Amino acid sequence: MSGRWGCRGLESLMASSNWVRTSPRSRAVHGGPAAAATGQVSSLSAEVDLPYLMTANQFTFDAVMAATEAQRRPQGRSGTFTDNMKLPVHRWFRYSAGFSADWVMETIADFVRTAGPKCRILDPFVGSGTTLLAAEGTGHGAVGWEVHPFIWRVAQAKLLWHLDPEQLVNCCVEVSVLAEKAGWKKGHHSVPDLLERCYSEDTLKSLKALGDAYAELATDDPHWELVWLAITAILRTCSFAGTAQWQYVLPNKRKLKSVEPHAAFRQMIALMAGDMRRVQDLGYRDSAILLRHDARSRWGAAGQFDLVVTSPPYPNNYDYADATRLEMTFWGEIRGWADLHDAVRKYLITSCSQHSAKDKLDPQVLLADAELSPLGDRIGRVVEKLGTVRLERGGKKTYHTMIAQYFIDMSLVWKSLRSSCCNGARICYVIGDSAPYGVYVPVDEWLGQLALAAGFNSFSFEKIRDRNVKWRNRKHRVPLKEGRLWVEG
Ligand SMILES: C[S@@+](CC[C@H](N)C(=O)[O-])C[C@H]1O[C@@H](n2cnc3c(N)ncnc32)[C@H](O)[C@@H]1O
Repeated sequence: MSGRWGCRGLESLMASSNWVRTSPRSRAVHGGPAAAATGQVSSLSAEVDLPYLMTANQFTFDAVMAATEAQRRPQGRSGTFTDNMKLPVHRWFRYSAGFSADWVMETIADFVRTAGPKCRILDPFVGSGTTLLAAEGTGHGAVGWEVHPFIWRVAQAKLLWHLDPEQLVNCCVEVSVLAEKAGWKKGHHSVPDLLERCYSEDTLKSLKALGDAYAELATDDPHWELVWLAITAILRTCSFAGTAQWQYVLPNKRKLKSVEPHAAFRQMIALMAGDMRRVQDLGYRDSAILLRHDARSRWGAAGQFDLVVTSPPYPNNYDYADATRLEMTFWGEIRGWADLHDAVRKYLITSCSQHSAKDKLDPQVLLADAELSPLGDRIGRVVEKLGTVRLERGGKKTYHTMIAQYFIDMSLVWKSLRSSCCNGARICYVIGDSAPYGVYVPVDEWLGQLALAAGFNSFSFEKIRDRNVKWRNRKHRVPLKEGRLWVEG
């Protein structure tokens, strides 16, 4: 466990019976956790919405609050409905890998209905923090693990919704003023190619001026972490580069609209400050802890958790490291694509071929690993087939070693969960199967088998939707599905 605020109050939280810590503000407000759980918040918007237009002169805390209040006032049926379609705080950073917070809240409510009020929640793959925020919205204690250093920081910043919105706006006014005055001190380094391809010169100057002003003014006060998140969150809004369905940056595709950085920054802050006030009024509780912890390693005391709600990486070749390449390049954490493996990928579950190729994995060694023995020779046949098919394909992607390593990693995760969960725990994985090079991998079934081998009692799969059935230009015709793997025991 590590990080600036990663282990705040951990011991006291673990020691308390109901795991709930009430922030000073939420104690004083109306609504309470039940209000949050009963539908005052609604579906998660896919886009970061920046509705508050204000000029630099108008950028004060009072103006921000007036703008957000106007947004909250019901404007007839459709206005209220539209308002409910966007979840506060969740929307601060668009993470395509995320799942529905409404559904997590329902899952928590179902658990409490059937298993009783003792509900200590774990999310071993936190991503942008959906489960942890849903736990805070329903008033339950929760712990989360995430190893992607950049996404960890994003989720950690989102958990600071309980800070003072007025102080946040004050920090941001300081940043705006300094950025406008001082501009960008370019220094001797050349600008990374990706940034030159994603921004016009003027836009990049303004963004970098905001980044420099932040670096100069930021202190250890956690409000500054929210300022960092606000700048991070506008990087795509201000870029003319397209983004793929899965959030990689596509510098060769152009968007029709991009927003001027200073205006986008003010709008983002207004959105964040308004959301902070809103969830504080709803009675969200500061009851979640996020740790930089690898889900494959056993953690802390045994038998701590009653409910796990999570979505692990699918073995579908999505590269979580690449997903934050633009942001990490902007902040100088990497210079380019080649740095991603050491900076991020090597810490993650192996779920993309770039990962297994770079690690130069040997299929025979992987198949001899005892973690795979519960799957019998079925995984050997799939790995062998993938090894053959790749030789017939131009790309020669290392899906064979990716799949073998993926299930070794996930077996270790089950053992870590078995140790962390109490007897009778309920676990829900949102997961999809996969068919690299058209070779079917029954991910849900194999994960279920590995869960039983780790000591859980039962598993079942609830399909939510079909995948790979719509598009004409799909790479293969194998029907796929996505759904919930429920494990009990
Ligand atoms: C599907 S995403 C989770 C998204 C999350 N449910 C949300 O709503 O934002 C999976 C996450 O697992 C993280 N991850 C990958 N390997 C990990 C590991 N070994 N330990 C902890 N987290 C890991 C990835 O960085 C990624 O953010």
